[in-house]
Amino acid sequence: MGTTKDPNGAQKSRVGPTTTLAYLDPQYWDERFTTEEHYEWLKDYSHFRHLIQSHLNPSSSILELGCGNSQLCEELYKDGFTEITCIDLSAVAVENMQKKLLSKGLKEIKVLEADMLDLPFSNECFDVVIEKGTMEVLFVDSGDPWNPRPATVTKVMKMLEGIHRVLKPDGIYISISFGQPHFRRPLFEAPQFTWSVEWSTFGDGFHYFFYTLKKGRRSPDNRSDEKLERPSINLYQDELEGEDFIFRTNLDELSS
Ligand SMILES: C[S@@+](CC[C@H](N)C(=O)[O-])C[C@H]1O[C@@H](n2cnc3c(N)ncnc32)[C@H](O)[C@@H]1O
Repeated sequence: MGTTKDPNGAQKSRVGPTTTLAYLDPQYWDERFTTEEHYEWLKDYSHFRHLIQSHLNPSSSILELGCGNSQLCEELYKDGFTEITCIDLSAVAVENMQKKLLSKGLKEIKVLEADMLDLPFSNECFDVVIEKGTMEVLFVDSGDPWNPRPATVTKVMKMLEGIHRVLKPDGIYISISFGQPHFRRPLFEAPQFTWSVEWSTFGDGFHYFFYTLKKGRRSPDNRSDEKLERPSINLYQDELEGEDFIFRTNLDELSS
């Protein structure tokens, strides 16, 4: 995979994997992180910082899922949120992140090798669970986004059930995603979850979604029966240059 650097020093992927199925392969991520120092999926912290701040306080315990080589955890730390645990399935990502944080004096941030589908934490131990572009990985073989394969739904529900379990009774799950509410809400609003589901958008051109799922605050009419309309897709050139457009393949197909 070739890379260039953007003005902020983040690597921009010029060629993604030959098939999006690679994103489901732990070996793909290990190989990628062996050479790639920094790649920021979707947008960096500066674009959604204003949305995050009202949901956190300095004592919040935060779990980040699938940290990769993103700077999200260090940006949160610099903003005063110091109780952070990051996980990633890739041992290489974890080792690199540990070294990087140590070299920057951020040794308080814990980084563990773990599977987001089998979280190794006790019940109700985090105030906030956050992920950026990580749930997306589970959708790369989902088929029709309006009717994802049962295997995809099973994995996504496993991830959501784990997040719900490790969140404190009034905890918040923040999902930063390009997955539109049409596709995410049926999963987020499954009956076993007690959270309320809200979202904002950010970004120019294509809107990224900032979901907040607040545990213990589900209202009886949380689940919407409104007719779900097909999304309109409008991709701008700079977005097509980023690798995450590959995740949007299904959406592109819908809009063509
Ligand atoms: C699309 S990247 C997003 C990275 C980072 N969150 C960002 O915003 O740049 C997905 C990340 O999830 C990790 N990952 C994939 N499957 C995972 C799993 N089952 N559990 C934990 N991490 C996983 C990958 O190793 C990779 O670091």
